[in-house]
Amino acid sequence: MVFDEADRIATIELEQDRDVVRARSRVADAMKECGSSELMQTRFVTAVSEVVRNALTHAGGGTLAIYAMPNKRQVGIECRDCGKGIEDIDAAMADGFTTRRGSMGRGLGGAKRLSKTFAIDSSPGKGTTVRMIGACSLR
Ligand SMILES: Nc1ncnc2c1ncn2[C@@H]1O[C@H](COP(=O)(O)OP(=O)(O)O)[C@@H](O)[C@H]1O
Ligand SMILES: [Mg+2]
Repeated sequence: MVFDEADRIATIELEQDRDVVRARSRVADAMKECGSSELMQTRFVTAVSEVVRNALTHAGGGTLAIYAMPNKRQVGIECRDCGKGIEDIDAAMADGFTTRRGSMGRGLGGAKRLSKTFAIDSSPGKGTTVRMIGACSLR
């Protein structure tokens, strides 16, 4: 999944908790701009929230880029960090896997279920990049 053809409409540095709120609200706006229903908006904002929170919690921060997709009925995001990376991606994707005490470990699996397209690229020492596309309507 590459966003070469897409318009980058925002870049948000993820450094502290309130950046999650900024990310959520910017993605919600982008979805509205492409005519999204409330439901589709909530689904994708929740997905983005999970990966953005992961960048903060597990990698100490990162960068979120938001894209309007060429067909204008979809919003794309790339969340990139330079943290410690994920050793076993399949394990991390599975519900119930977490390295954080008290967590349900459903963040990544949930994000994949709530987005139209999901791709994760991560390796130990190199950081993590998650790319997702959210559809603004079911059509
Ligand atoms: N950006 C990231 N950098 C490093 N590790 C990550 C990142 N995102 C997720 N992980 C790893 O994958 C696991 C599962 O993530 P997730 O499903 O969101 O559950 P949770 O964040 O609640 O632990 C995390 O516990 C962590 O070990
Ligand atoms: Mg998480």
